[in-house]
Formats: sequence, structure tokens, C-alpha cells
Amino acid sequence: MRLAIIGTGYVGLVTGACFAEVGHHVLCVDIDPRKVAVLNAGGIPIYEPGLEDLVHRNTAAGRLRFTCSTATAVAEAEVIFICVPTPPQPDGSVDLSFIEGVAREIAAHLTEYRIIVDKSTVPVKTGEKVAETLRRYSRTPTEFDVVSNPEFLREGFAVEDLMNPDRIVIGTSSVRPVPKMREVYAPFAAPLIVTDTNSAELIKHAANSFLALKISYINAISAICEAAGANVLEVANGMGMDERIGRRFLNAGIGFGGSCFSKDFSAFIKIVEQLGYDFRLLKEVQRINTDQMDRFFKKIQETLWVLKDKRLGVLGLAFKQNTDDVRTSPAVDLCQRLLREGARLRVHDPKAMEKARAVLPPSDAVEYVDDPDEVSAGCDALVIATEWPHFAKLDLARARRQMTTAILFDGRNLLDRAEAEAHGFLYRGVGR
Ligand SMILES: NC(=O)c1ccc[n+]([C@@H]2O[C@H](COP(=O)([O-])OP(=O)(O)OC[C@H]3O[C@@H](n4cnc5c(N)ncnc54)[C@H](O)[C@@H]3O)[C@@H](O)[C@H]2O)c1
Repeated sequence: MRLAIIGTGYVGLVTGACFAEVGHHVLCVDIDPRKVAVLNAGGIPIYEPGLEDLVHRNTAAGRLRFTCSTATAVAEAEVIFICVPTPPQPDGSVDLSFIEGVAREIAAHLTEYRIIVDKSTVPVKTGEKVAETLRRYSRTPTEFDVVSNPEFLREGFAVEDLMNPDRIVIGTSSVRPVPKMREVYAPFAAPLIVTDTNSAELIKHAANSFLALKISYINAISAICEAAGANVLEVANGMGMDERIGRRFLNAGIGFGGSCFSKDFSAFIKIVEQLGYDFRLLKEVQRINTDQMDRFFKKIQETLWVLKDKRLGVLGLAFKQNTDDVRTSPAVDLCQRLLREGARLRVHDPKAMEKARAVLPPSDAVEYVDDPDEVSAGCDALVIATEWPHFAKLDLARARRQMTTAILFDGRNLLDRAEAEAHGFLYRGVGR
């Protein structure tokens, strides 16, 4: 099938590459000519495991192309996916101007029936607004259908998630686009849920918020564990073996972050508020998340006493493992708090250092270090801020030798506490 993707960012590029991989012909559009130039020159603007191979293989096969022209996309593609940003506004609600802009651009070039699919994360009832915009701005009366197809991929596992989704959600108010949508997704072995547009839009926000709730729940339990002298890892394992609960998303840490997770969560609170429901449960989830970072920061402050001019090694800048994304990253937030107190940082991340430089510029107080085992050199303490699995294999003997004082703050409960203590470290984890 001939498909178009409008917005070639995390979601758009990975979706386009995966659709091409299963045999569709995909034209990816982006408004940013530099991004399109990079892609056309064989570069990949983001890091995602497996993405580079996928893009190169499919561009070479002629199934994946990049352009700045929405007009070409509308002329060529039977199904057009909208994958543009839906950023938060200062009050937490969603800025839908990118979605409206794309709807207007599509409308300007619409001359025959097209299926317009919203993959961006949007408030419930956005599909109705997109359809209205398409009708209003179309130059000639043309038939179309608007479909909601929310995306559930996790950054860092985007290719894996798109190729093997748990479920595919199709929301539509008409039966006409359903066979085509089934055809798009036929190569993917996943249950396909066909529902109304509003329900499809709600599924995404309801699912994300539930996951955030699960994280805050275990973070609250971690605070209780600290007060009670229990171990949150043991508690999470014991809870997680109940298959009604499950072990995933039960890792205590320094709180959830990431551009999507945090913004979708705040957006959902606003969306339901506008629908007349005060979702106090979610507001509490948000408060627990902020508290969790505050408690970890206080732990560092209390242990090190004066932070001014203390040297700290920080391992991890990305908001989670397997990504170079530092947007709304708890690790970056922690670094900024430490800097405000006058600490000096030696920081490392295997993938996110380039992007982190924009939000945490190198200076006398921030030094970027390529080798994770070098980060602790001359430091008063070492902090693990992102759960990159290889940080668990840190050379603790070397770290102990090269540090001024042997103090370890494990914000992701990644290290074996007994092993760290055997190497002479004062170990401070989360809830253990
Ligand atoms: N990143 C994730 O993990 C994830 C997961 C699920 C859903 N989502 C949702 O998907 C949407 C896109 O997120 P993203 O992370 O891919 O964003 P992104 O910022 O990485 O990419 C968006 C792209 O759209 C382009 N763009 C903006 N306006 C355009 C226009 N008028 N025409 C063409 N291109 C345009 C931008 O230049 C950018 O390259 C958001 O609604 C987000 O909430 C993201």
C-alpha cells in the first residue's frame, strides 16, 4: 500500500520504517528541511536500537522516501498518518496547533478520498475537530475519513514495539476506512481493536496514566520501605508475581519522566477537568512523583552535608535506558538541582550526551566524560541516574580507588548493595 507519514520524528520515522519493512511504500514528510536532508543523505537524526539498519535497508529497496512536501504525500498516499508533536502548554493542556496546521495543509491538497489517521497523542474529541478542519479548508468537496490510531511505542524499544505491538487500536466513526486499516496492519501479528474515535483517543491517555500510577505506587511503597526497614525490591518481586499485578513498572527510582509520559499525564488531568471530572487520584500520582525526586535529592544533601564545590559523578542523562532523549529527564533535573547548590559534575551517558549539552551546557561545573569508569575520578560521590544496564557492571574497585570519598547514590537500584558495601562504599539506594 502507499502510505504517508506527516512528521518524521520519533514516532513518524520509526512507524514509517516499520511500515516499509513489512512491504508498504512509505513517504515520510517533515517540515524541517535539515532533518529531511540528513535522512536523504543516509543519516539518522535520533537513536533507536535497530532503526538505522531498518531505514537504510528500506531506503535502498525504494520503499522508504523523505520529503518536505505534504502536497506530494496527499497526492500519492491512500492513508496519511499524522505524527506531529502535541506539546504541553504552560497550564498542562495540549497545544494542538501542529495537528490543526497539518489538517489544514492536507485539506489544501485533498482532491480524492483519503484516510487521515491521527497517531499523535491527542485529547479525546480531537478526531471530530480534525474532520471539521478538513471539511472547512478543503478547496473542493472531497470525501475522507478520520481515524484515531494511538501509538504505544516506548522510546528505546520503538522498533521492537512497532514490529510486535500488544494491540492495535483503530477508532473511527465510519466503516469505510476499516478494511484499508486492516490491510495496513495485516503484516503485524497483533489483536486489532476497532472502536469509536473517542474511545480510541481515550485508550491512549488512560493506559499511560495507569502506568504512571503504577510507578508512583511503587515509589510510595519505597518511601514506606525506608521508614520501615524493608526492601522495596523484595516487595516489588512479591507483588509482581501476582499475575493480576505483574512485575513491570514496579521499579522504584527517582520518578518518571520523558517528554511523552509526563506531558500526556498532565494533559489527561486537564482533559478530564474540561469534561467536568476532577481526577484527584492522578493529581496525587503527580505529587508522589515530585516527592520522589525531592526525597532522593535530600538524601544526597543530607549525606554530603555541604554541596557547594563537592564533585559528583553522574551516570545517566537520558530519561531512561536505551534512548538519547533528555526531554523531561529526571536525571537532567537532578543535575540541575545539584548545580544550583554549587556542586561540580562529571557526567556520562552512552547515548544522550550530545542532546544533553543543550540543556546542561559544558562549563567549569559540568564536565562530559566518555568512559563510564572514568566518571568517578576525583569525586566525592557517584550517582546513578538512568537505568542503563551496563552501569550495573561498573568497576567498583577502580571507582573506590579514584574517588575522594566512597559514596554511592543509586537512584535506579541498579547495583548489588552488598557488593558495593564490600568495596567500601556507603550505599544509598531507593527504598532498600
Ligand atoms: N516519542 C514517543 O515515545 C511517543 C510515543 C507515543 C506517542 N507519541 C506521540 O506522537 C506524537 C509525535 O511525537 P514525537 O516524539 O514523534 O515528536 P517529535 O518531535 O520527535 O517529531 C515530530 C516531528 O514532526 C515535525 N513536524 C512538525 N510540524 C509539522 C508539519 N506541519 N508537517 C510536517 N512535519 C511536521 C517536526 O519537525 C518533527 O520532526 C506526539 O503527539 C507524541 O505525544 C510519542
